[in-house]
Amino acid sequence: MCGIVGYTGSEQAAPFLLAGLAALEYRGYDSAGIEVLSPDGGLHGVKCAGRVATLQERCATANLVGTSGIAHTRWATHGAPSDKNAHPHLDCSGRIAIVHNGIIENYRQLREQLLTAGHEFASDTDSEVVAHLVEDSLNGPAHGDLLEAVRIACGRLQGSWALAVISADNPGQIVVARRRSPLVIARTGDGAYAASDVTALAGKASTVIQLEDGQVARMDKDGSVRVISHDGTLVSRPATYKIDWDASAATLGGYPDFMAKEIAEQPEALERLLADRLGSDGIRLDELDMTAEEAATIDRVYVVACGTSYHVGLITRTAIETWAKVPVVVETASEFIYHDVLVTDHTLCVIITQSGETADTLAAGRKMHDLGAKVLAITNVVGCTAARESDGVLYIQAGPEVCVCSTKAYTAQMVAAFLLALYLAHRKGELDNIQVAEKYQELRELPDIIREVLKRSWQDRVAASEFEGAYSSLFIGRGVNATTAAEGALKLKEISYLHAESYAAGEMKHGPIALLEPGYPVVAVVPRDHWHDKTVSNIEEVIARGATCIAVATDGDADVAALCNRVLWVPPVEDEILEPVVTVVHLQMLARYVALDRGCDVDKPRNLAKSVTVE
Ligand code: F6R
Repeated sequence: MCGIVGYTGSEQAAPFLLAGLAALEYRGYDSAGIEVLSPDGGLHGVKCAGRVATLQERCATANLVGTSGIAHTRWATHGAPSDKNAHPHLDCSGRIAIVHNGIIENYRQLREQLLTAGHEFASDTDSEVVAHLVEDSLNGPAHGDLLEAVRIACGRLQGSWALAVISADNPGQIVVARRRSPLVIARTGDGAYAASDVTALAGKASTVIQLEDGQVARMDKDGSVRVISHDGTLVSRPATYKIDWDASAATLGGYPDFMAKEIAEQPEALERLLADRLGSDGIRLDELDMTAEEAATIDRVYVVACGTSYHVGLITRTAIETWAKVPVVVETASEFIYHDVLVTDHTLCVIITQSGETADTLAAGRKMHDLGAKVLAITNVVGCTAARESDGVLYIQAGPEVCVCSTKAYTAQMVAAFLLALYLAHRKGELDNIQVAEKYQELRELPDIIREVLKRSWQDRVAASEFEGAYSSLFIGRGVNATTAAEGALKLKEISYLHAESYAAGEMKHGPIALLEPGYPVVAVVPRDHWHDKTVSNIEEVIARGATCIAVATDGDADVAALCNRVLWVPPVEDEILEPVVTVVHLQMLARYVALDRGCDVDKPRNLAKSVTVE
């Protein structure tokens, strides 16, 4: 969702700003824009609906000279994706420009007040009010101090924001602010940089300042940064984080797209996560910040997440309930925040979020924190909001996930959840040292099994042809692999735009079976687990109606081979709870091939954002 970059220093701003926007493209957007303070003392900018590449083309002839500037990729919330609604937005004088990520919830009242006071608006966005509020405060109570003007303006806002503001009357300065939308700042020898996330700063800096909620900061062209809190007090030691991803981690490295790269990276990602996790006293999860006694007394767990991460939550439930014998409630964050929940003194809340910035998931974590639960985040991004707001954090160490649709983070989050479940099971005395060591060994075997599945991508390439001409598809499975079916359907629909519905296989007869007709594609996830025979019966029902069945099955399964039109084979996995880490890999590859066949951009599906920072 919206990406922000800013720079002030000794170098030309436009090259970094445009490269920074390109690096943030993965967040999802529909328009882009840039504003630079030129040596003639005025602001000059370009903005347009469409891709960063289009903006770059337009900038090539716009002669954007200047060493301070801000830029933005917009994911439309208020106002259609159009040139006029693209950021930056200017005040009435054209001497202040702002970019914004988030939602200004009270923008209607503010707009009314500003219109009454004589301000003129040029867009339909909620964000534009900020430019006019800064105009008022800069010319009024802030007496020309841009930092103070932005702080005062923020005091009138409700909602969420990451902001970058530049003023022609405050040359060499960029002021940034945040509340519930991410923003980082880097100080370097050639100036100061700001960005929505570190992906845009990789190669520029090795540590960043992570602005906290309510803080406002002024970046100066000598690279200095002054951070104040919402009440104006100086923050002498702002929080800093080390960037642990190098620039090359977010490049294609010879792969045709990031999705292909990230699918292929799964074995190494899991190996990193699993390394050195077994100590003499069971699973080592020192980063949880939880004592053995605390873990032993946990009496209920809430798992809250969105989208793909929610699917990880469903698998987490099975692992914790089966191994640790603790009841688990799993819910999507956007619904969870409206519910009454039962929190005891021993309630654990696990929020799962790759980006660590998903607004609904963060809101759920805050709610549980306020109710007194211990909140643990499973996330990929070091220093993200989820990590900073939680009592404990388990980093999945998957490296940057650039493709909008999640693949390696999905499997790594699952394995992180398995580690947590084993940790709890051991602390609660449900699994002993030997049992935990055995399970850990089974987890360690998963990367090699995935490597074997990756070698079989040709099976997915061939099976993708079964979707040619399809208008819809059905994914079925049972137990943990009902979740794999759900994840497979989500992958397919989000990147190929082909409708895909998932259903627990046993439920198919209660409705979705009506969809089946000759040639209709059904994907059945049916590895050799204790639900296998029942799912095979469901496949019989599919075949009996002339539908095309593509199965994900365990090597050597003659029953499935005899029944199905195509089989995507997986090697056997010891514990069926771990199976989804393997079976899903075929469904990731299948979705990618179907999307490519349909001419889709697999890395940047329409309407979607990588980091969903609005509720
Ligand atoms: C789908 C996908 C999304 C995310 C969801 C939550 O492939 O990536 O469904 O899983 O937007 O994102 P995070 O995990 O960052 O909270």
